[in-house]
Amino acid sequence: MKKYAFSLQKGGVGKTSLSGTIGFMLSDKGKKTVLVDCDPQGNLSSWYLTDQVDHELAGVLTGKVGIAESIKQIRENLFIIPTYGIDGELKAYGENQLANEPFIFEDLCNELEKMGFDYALFDLSPGMGRIERMVILAMDEVITPMTPEYFSLDGIEIFASELSKIRKNYKRENVQHRKIVCNGHNESIKQHREITGQLPQGYDNYIIPTDPAFRKAQSSHIALFELEPGDRPKKSTVDELTRLLEGM
Ligand SMILES: Nc1ncnc2c1ncn2[C@@H]1O[C@H](COP(=O)(O)OP(=O)(O)OP(=O)(O)O)[C@@H](O)[C@H]1O
Ligand SMILES: [Mg+2]
Repeated sequence: MKKYAFSLQKGGVGKTSLSGTIGFMLSDKGKKTVLVDCDPQGNLSSWYLTDQVDHELAGVLTGKVGIAESIKQIRENLFIIPTYGIDGELKAYGENQLANEPFIFEDLCNELEKMGFDYALFDLSPGMGRIERMVILAMDEVITPMTPEYFSLDGIEIFASELSKIRKNYKRENVQHRKIVCNGHNESIKQHREITGQLPQGYDNYIIPTDPAFRKAQSSHIALFELEPGDRPKKSTVDELTRLLEGM
């Protein structure tokens, strides 16, 4: 099973939009995929789930429920371990209990692998707190979305330095960081052109345009590809997402 986190300490850069969309595309290719909503805001869960959920990720981590009970199926080959945005149990777990169980996400991944998943995609919250660090150390690779702003370029640098500390402190030199997705690019904005021209060297870069399909799909609780024909994502969005998927 391949394990990816979508992470950046900066907010609103597309972590949820990309993890949810790539998950859908993997399932469409016949890959059994589980999304793990690690953000106490629960955005990924409220995007794809409309029914009330009985169990959530925090319940699995605290041992209150089994993984199988908490997993919800979204469509063929696509599943989610949800988080509700309301009661804050995941946040409390991260603050109180996680310090004693730093490898709990590795254990979770081992269980998911035994359940036959091909891919696990972890959507992280903005910030670099204990939950984010403990998820990252359990991953094969972290994909960092960013927006075409100068602060995002700084954000990638800060992320890379945090990641090198995690690798060193937990002896997880194998966690990769190779892909940067510059999301929400508008070619007619000069600053966007400047930023996309200065993306950090040594990474595979992907540039996704500003595309209203993301908001439309999320407010309709469906994937981008399930929108009505007039609302479908732009060709350049699909092309870059496909290129990203091919490297995963
Ligand atoms: N390429 C895009 N074009 C236009 N809007 C986008 C694009 N990508 C994402 N969005 C919109 O931007 C907002 C932020 O995206 P998203 O929630 O995926 O970011 P995030 O990094 O997960 O945020 P957070 O840090 O709060 O978890 C959402 O409303 C989403 O619909
Ligand atoms: Mg998010």
